[in-house]
This record gives sequence, structure tokens and C-alpha cells, in this order.
Amino acid sequence: MRLVQTVSELRQCLDGLTPPVFVPTMGNLHEGHLALTRQARATGRPVVVSVFVNPLQFGPDEDYARYPRTLAADCALLEREGVELVFAPAVQELYPEPQRFMVQPPLADELCGAFRPGHFAGVCTVVLKLFNLVRPAVAVFGKKDYQQLFLIRAMVRQLNLPIDILAGETVRAADGLALSSRNAYLSPEQRAEAPRLYRVLQWIGARLAAGEADLAELEAAARQSLVAHDWQVDYVSIRSQATLLAPQPHERDLVVLAAARLGQTRLIDNLELSLP
Ligand code: PAJ
Repeated sequence: MRLVQTVSELRQCLDGLTPPVFVPTMGNLHEGHLALTRQARATGRPVVVSVFVNPLQFGPDEDYARYPRTLAADCALLEREGVELVFAPAVQELYPEPQRFMVQPPLADELCGAFRPGHFAGVCTVVLKLFNLVRPAVAVFGKKDYQQLFLIRAMVRQLNLPIDILAGETVRAADGLALSSRNAYLSPEQRAEAPRLYRVLQWIGARLAAGEADLAELEAAARQSLVAHDWQVDYVSIRSQATLLAPQPHERDLVVLAAARLGQTRLIDNLELSLP
């Protein structure tokens, strides 16, 4: 495995390589990320992983400065997974001048977009830059960040990028909590409380499967049960998988998404379900 930190080294390494499969990350890798690299490896292509904490996607009051940076440990894990190449540029390397050209994605006022202004523009812009640098044939993203996956797929379609996007299932702890680098911010008490987020989504899923049709009432009840346990809820929302908007009455392929904070730590999760 090679670790490269500059664009010119990356170019040299990619020269003569089969078009790779690419897994973009912000590092501090856990089993969720590693599952994506295994899925990537199964394509048979050389695997390129990027590790870059992208300042463009963090708001001024968010955790950019304290986001965990653990490159040496990340590289040790990736080496064991049979990854060919790790690209871990410095901020100056990706943004040598202020980034004025930005990808402006749709759904900017929906779900996480409503609570993190500019976040998805920052994500899509860095992912497009990374795609242009790595020039992968395939890229893998996790369903954990459902709106992000949806927007990357839309960007690839609408901008005709010649890249196949693969989706990885959300990897969870034994108690159901979706793995996330941000889980490390939780106190022991908060960590014990955190699995409620996924339980609430499962409760909504069960009610929908049982024929409950009042979506607003389910969303409100779920929100209430989180608030009652000291969560600050950004949203709990039942959406169409196809559009990420409110489902049409006939729609069967739904996704329940939620974002809520325990103290300072913001957690997100989602649950796909297909009604019979
Ligand atoms: P990061 O949060 O490091 O996540 C990198 C990839 O891992 C994303 O595709 C994310 O959806 C996936 N992932 C995270 N937790 C997961 C879990 N528990 N199970 C399965 N997959 C999981 O997402 C980003 O970085 C950034 O926004 C990035 C796309 C790299 C752009 O900066």
C-alpha cells in the first residue's frame, strides 16, 4: 500500500493503473468505512481511499477543528484490507486558492440541508474534485449518510460523470447504534442513550408496515419520545426513496430519516422500508 499526500504523487501512482474503485472518507476509520473498502475490493479493481477532513463541508460552529485525525492508525487498518493507495492531502493541496466554483446541489433546504447550510455544496464540491483527481470507474458510499449518497448519485447522473456508484449498508454496533466517528464524542451516559435513535426509526417502520397511514403523527410521536429523553431533534421524517421528498400516496419504497443531538453531538440515522 502506498500513502501519497500530493496531487503530483497521486498522478504518478495512477499512471498505468487500471481505473480504480474509490472510497472517499474523512478518516478516523471504523468498521463502517472498512466494510466499504471490502465492497470496493470485491469489484476486482485497485482500491483507492482518500482521507481528508474537508473544511468546506463544516459550518462555522461545527466540529471541524476537533474532528478526530488518526492517519497512522487509518493507514494500518487500510493496509490490512488490501487497499492499494491512500490519498491524504493537506488542505493547501486541495484548496491552493479559495474555492469559488462550487457544486450547488438540489434539496439544499431539506433534511440535513436545512440544519447545515452549505454542507452538501461542500460535500459535492470536494467529491467532484476527488473524482477528477482519482478518476475512478466505481466509487462506494455508505447508506448511513443517506442524503449524501442520494445527492452524489444525482450529481453523477446529471453531470454525466462516468462513474458507477455503489451503496454500502449501514454498519451498526451490537445495540443498533450506527457506527460514526462522532460517537467518540459521547459520554458513557450519552452512549447508552444513543441507540434510541435507531429504535425510534424501527418503531416507525413497524407502524408503517402495520398499515398506519398518518405519517405526520408518526413523525411527531417519534420526535416526542426522543425529546422526552433529552434529545434535541432536528428532524424525524418519512420520505420517498426515489425523491427524498414527502412520499406520494401510492409510494411503497420509503425511508425514515432522523437527525438529533445529545448534548453537543449530532447523530443521524435512517431506515429504508418497502411496504407490501
Ligand atoms: P465519512 O463520514 O468519513 O464517511 C465516509 C464514508 O463512509 C461515507 O460514504 C459514509 O456514508 C460511510 N460510512 C460512515 N459510517 C458508516 C457506517 N456506520 N456504515 C456504513 N458506511 C458508513 O461522508 C464523508 O466522510 C464525507 O462527507 C466525504 C464523502 C468523504 C466527503 O468529504
